[in-house]
Amino acid sequence: MSNLIAPSILAADFANLQRDIEMVNNSEADWFHIDIMDGVFVPNISFGMPVLKAISKHAKKTIDAHLMIVNPDQYIQTFADLGANILTVHYEACSHLHRTIQAIKAAGMKAGVALNPHTPIAVLEDVIKDLDLVCIMSVNPGFGGQSFIENTYKKVSQLRHLIDFTESDCLIEIDGGVTDKNANALIEAGANVLVAGSYVFGAENPTETIEDLKNLIG
Ligand code: DX5
Ligand code: ZN
Repeated sequence: MSNLIAPSILAADFANLQRDIEMVNNSEADWFHIDIMDGVFVPNISFGMPVLKAISKHAKKTIDAHLMIVNPDQYIQTFADLGANILTVHYEACSHLHRTIQAIKAAGMKAGVALNPHTPIAVLEDVIKDLDLVCIMSVNPGFGGQSFIENTYKKVSQLRHLIDFTESDCLIEIDGGVTDKNANALIEAGANVLVAGSYVFGAENPTETIEDLKNLIG
């Protein structure tokens, strides 16, 4: 399978959301990455259900929803109804992670778990075979446009070993500070999906920037 690019809509122009969604639809991007922040789990509030509903109406590619919220369990069915295809919860926000993963799958979505920069890969050993995706945060979640944390490479290699050792087919996604400077090295370390927000939407030509990233990572 080829490696994937998931533009983060957090960095889009919300006053021109449909235009930016169509840009992604017509680009070589693979997924829509949707960041939901509650102001409790992370020190920022992004947007919620009505905005996701509007995005889903126009998005023609996989919707990868990244929940940076406490108590994600209570919204699993809501996100399924809103059109999320992949639902990622934070390890740090779930007391009963195994139960949450099963509930996401029972609602018909693929299940992902995100790890904050301080959370070691080893905490996923006992659920790795149940997961469709692990999102390694390469910035502290809450804001777009932050600098990439270099320790991420080590975590990607560790996770790649764990996935290969357990013969799991889960994807490795990297989220935060992704640019043309680190994309290739991340793929070489074992990542499959790169989220890019400000690098894509802050570019003069986002469509070309997506194409260049795709060519870079193969
Ligand atoms: C951060 C979000 C990211 C963010 C990435 O909390 O989870 O998805 O939008 O933005 P950039 O690519 O600008 O770091
Ligand atoms: Zn994200």
